[in-house]
Amino acid sequence: FKTLDELDLTGKRVLLRADLNVPVADGKVTDATRIERLVPTIREIVKKDGKAILLSHFGRPKGKVDPEFSLEQVCEAVANETGHPVGFVATDWVDVSAAKKAIDEAPAGAVLVLENTRFHPGEEENDPELAKRMASLGDVYVNDAFSAAHRAHASTEALARLLPAAAGLAMEAELKALESGLGKPKKPVVAIVGGAKVSSKIDLLENLVTKVDGLVIGGGMANTFLFAQGHGVGKSLCEKDLADTARRIMDKADKANCAIILPIDAVVSWHFKANSPTRLYGVDAIDPDGMILDIGPSSIERINGAIDDAHTVVWNGPVGAFEMEPFDAGTVAIAKHVAKRTHDDLLVSVAGGGDTVSALAHAGVKDKLTYVSTAGGAFLEWMEGKPLPGVEALKK
Ligand code: 3PG
Repeated sequence: FKTLDELDLTGKRVLLRADLNVPVADGKVTDATRIERLVPTIREIVKKDGKAILLSHFGRPKGKVDPEFSLEQVCEAVANETGHPVGFVATDWVDVSAAKKAIDEAPAGAVLVLENTRFHPGEEENDPELAKRMASLGDVYVNDAFSAAHRAHASTEALARLLPAAAGLAMEAELKALESGLGKPKKPVVAIVGGAKVSSKIDLLENLVTKVDGLVIGGGMANTFLFAQGHGVGKSLCEKDLADTARRIMDKADKANCAIILPIDAVVSWHFKANSPTRLYGVDAIDPDGMILDIGPSSIERINGAIDDAHTVVWNGPVGAFEMEPFDAGTVAIAKHVAKRTHDDLLVSVAGGGDTVSALAHAGVKDKLTYVSTAGGAFLEWMEGKPLPGVEALKK
């Protein structure tokens, strides 16, 4: 695909697909990381006297105009991050003539935010007619929303095919970083996969065992693997019906020479509650009434040893119930170790997906890895080896 410097931006109306789907509480943005990452691309457009016209979804308003999901509430954060005044352009995406007029009347170098693309059902249907209306508002298209690239929607897919198009600087950086994590990584590669459920990550695990040298499985999903190996897991979260799937994944790993690293000890509690009493057990002797809520110190040592042997780590999902103390200890210890090896130039570390970023922030190392993706679903699908429609459309 084209990069930003290969697209003529001078004096152009630039439709910039951003991901302004950021957390908001009481009308205020609570985490602006996704907006921060857009700043270099916006500056580049403004520098060339282009108009940066931001196009994004926000939440899931189900194809209807719904003030609760208006992007107007995100404009102030965009202005703060870019240091540039931001104009809001309302539209219902049925008739875009007023939006077109507002864009035409804005001065060169203006930064504008268009209303939520999901206010029209055609967005999620990848409707070519809606894409045409969007295209009528710009001269060129730039996609800087990797985190929405797994959606084949009008503003991420169909629109990219209608105008001269390029990847934005954040999209380019993200794809490069991910490539260094799994595409052409420095071997050996260790993947760390955690989170509650195996069921949401079967495709991920199946793909990873064919690509990495070691796969650490932690979090609730490790219990299903331990159960599949014949261990008792007490009252822990466990998808017993997926024991066969877990065994199949372990077999596949074995054939592909991928070492599966499971917990060997566990922090057990009898209540799913912060600071409830705990006891440490080996995984072959879990108390039948207890719940595994974190990995134990021997597991941490083993995982950190695997990280020491690796040149690349890719990480998705916490290895314990990190949002409750003291069950954050395993995730924090591993995060700090990954950060230290990265700092010492011994490791390339790439992390992303939902809870992972909060877990890294909780451990105080969010900015200490080689790359932390702000993407949730898109990061997962990319790790699953699936083509992302928003990236594919740029390659047309
Ligand atoms: C995300 O937050 O992961 C992206 O913005 C995509 O949002 P969606 O899951 O509502 O499509």
